[in-house]
Amino acid sequence: MTTDRSPETTGASPTAAARASGVVDLDLPGPTISRHLYGHFAEHLGRCIYDGFFVGEDSDVPNEGGIRLDVVEALRAAGIPNLRWPGGCFADEYHWRDGVGPREERPRMVNSHWGDVVEDNSFGTHEFMALCELLGAEPYVSANVGSGTVHENADWVEYLTRADDSPMAALRRANGRDEPWSVRFWGLGNEPWGCGGGMRAEAYADLARTFGTYSRDHGGNELYRIAAGAAEADYRWTEVLMKALGHEIGGTRRTGHGTGTYQAVSFHYYTVPGPWEHKGSATDFDEDEYFRTMVEAQRLEGILSGHAAVMDAYDPQRRVGLVLDEWGAWYDVEPGTNPGFLFQQNSLRDALLAGLHFDAFHRHAERLVMANIAQTVNVLQSMVLTDGEAMVLTPTYHAFTMNRGHHDAARLPLAWRTAEPVRSVGGTDLTTLTATASTKDGAVLVSLTNLETSGGVDVELDLRGGAVGAPEATVLTAASTSAHNTVEQPDAVAPAAHEASVDGSVLRVHVPAHSFVTVRLPLAG
Ligand code: AHR
Repeated sequence: MTTDRSPETTGASPTAAARASGVVDLDLPGPTISRHLYGHFAEHLGRCIYDGFFVGEDSDVPNEGGIRLDVVEALRAAGIPNLRWPGGCFADEYHWRDGVGPREERPRMVNSHWGDVVEDNSFGTHEFMALCELLGAEPYVSANVGSGTVHENADWVEYLTRADDSPMAALRRANGRDEPWSVRFWGLGNEPWGCGGGMRAEAYADLARTFGTYSRDHGGNELYRIAAGAAEADYRWTEVLMKALGHEIGGTRRTGHGTGTYQAVSFHYYTVPGPWEHKGSATDFDEDEYFRTMVEAQRLEGILSGHAAVMDAYDPQRRVGLVLDEWGAWYDVEPGTNPGFLFQQNSLRDALLAGLHFDAFHRHAERLVMANIAQTVNVLQSMVLTDGEAMVLTPTYHAFTMNRGHHDAARLPLAWRTAEPVRSVGGTDLTTLTATASTKDGAVLVSLTNLETSGGVDVELDLRGGAVGAPEATVLTAASTSAHNTVEQPDAVAPAAHEASVDGSVLRVHVPAHSFVTVRLPLAG
């Protein structure tokens, strides 16, 4: 049987050394794993923008136009494909005109969602587009549907993307930018069922159609409009959005411009280990809490299948994309920090959670076209943490970087011959070994995540249908799942070279307890 996951369970003892054997079909490349599944998110929230991405031109931190160059360099190295901005909840109270023109003249506003602080709008449209250019990332702009107008939204598209002497293009030029930017991803609001306006699905679907209609394609710029979608497993929300597209689905292309009013629908899924009032600490957790976190993270797989099934019913040709534009672990804020700033540390647990998510994304690559970690800098499951002039790469950052080879690669079928190791956590089965494989540019990349805390797995994968050369393996692990990087100890969790061998067609690699392992193999011939 060639499936990506075996339904069998062994009930294997979590402490015993385990063995897993499987097959990868090199000659059966599947769907492309879009690089946009490794997308990012930057919101005006806490220290994400200010102190994180943007320090201002007068800062001692090396910057270009106020943008931190250490953060840019790190994210470029991770191959950041896109960046969503300005929110999140902030998007639906953001008025873009407040963030253009001379900085000293920009009006202030209250960021009512995040800390009730005063936002001075010094980071606005031009700064965001400059950031994307420095990163080499595609912008993903989330427009204000909740408290904005259709006209304001239409003007923003025109301001960004129109070349001639239209009113908004002229305003952009007056503000110092001659050429229009290229913007593809256009979000129609955020969480409209909650902070984005408290709407019913039907009311939002109508609004999304209207905002989508007036989000015009100017010149050669083709928008990919993303309707704001469901919370977690709210499949009804997805159904309402799909129904609202009606006959337009037939004319909607999977990426790029289509005739539909929106080309994709999104949803959000956060991993929260405890009740909302006590989600748990980012670094101070016991083994029970660690496994509960992984059970919550594992739920994503079923939720992806649920949304995909609803979409399949209305769109069997998969023309409409599914976008998970917020995901990640959400813990209690670090003690002593502003509760409205959502600042949390990031441990090896988070890197393993990322590995588990990546594999789920790959398995749903037919429908899932984008995913965005929340949030890239200094908020929730961050890639980098800044502290004054210092910057720390998190374990999650390393997991993203180790998986770069999957960007735009073709997924390869991976089937286990042995039953997958499973641990029972409070009555729920947690699959503790997860893996995916892909191929591009004459090489194969295999990623493996072992969630067990005391027991490695000896993995054998029969790489059928092709020949491979010498493997290069990398491991990300540490003495404990709570290990994390700080300014004082920036490499407590860092990738290291790892042993792997190929004998004939068989790849052998040991996946240590609580580790993320990647193996790259050149294709021979
Ligand atoms: O990422 C933090 C917040 O979580 C976002 O602003 C919102 O969309 C979600 O509820």
